[in-house]
Amino acid sequence: MKFEELPLTEAEVIKLKQLCLEARSLSYSPYSKFRVGCTLVTSEGEFISGANIENASYGGSICAERSTICKAVNERKYKFKVIAISSDSQEAISPCGICRQFIREFGKEIPILMFGQEGNTHELMNLEELLPKSFGPSWLGVPEA
Ligand code: THU
Repeated sequence: MKFEELPLTEAEVIKLKQLCLEARSLSYSPYSKFRVGCTLVTSEGEFISGANIENASYGGSICAERSTICKAVNERKYKFKVIAISSDSQEAISPCGICRQFIREFGKEIPILMFGQEGNTHELMNLEELLPKSFGPSWLGVPEA
């Protein structure tokens, strides 16, 4: 997927990058010390940010992508134009398998924008590329978001 294909204005892309990099500061990650920030843009153009939240019982931790989507869904926002993530790794990280499936619930082809540490580098893929032949709502007779 190409950057120009994002359904955002240039100003929105700049804002998205800034918020996404800033979202790392929301991270509660005392165990891994691996901060991940996420910002999504809703179909109405609202920006919602979140981060990973870890737990002393490690399995209870939640990734930045899921915590941010939960924030949106709790505000009854189900349609996303793009989901962006960042971490402190020089190279852009990509969503884990559980997050890919979680994102899938809300769209087969959501663009995923992955920033490197400083935001100077990025990768852009849509969910279909990250999770081909996915299982989703329509298999259970539920309309796609
Ligand atoms: N993490 C995310 O927040 N998103 C990902 O896509 C990969 C991993 C978090 C989970 C955990 O808090 C830390 O990074 C180390 O795995």
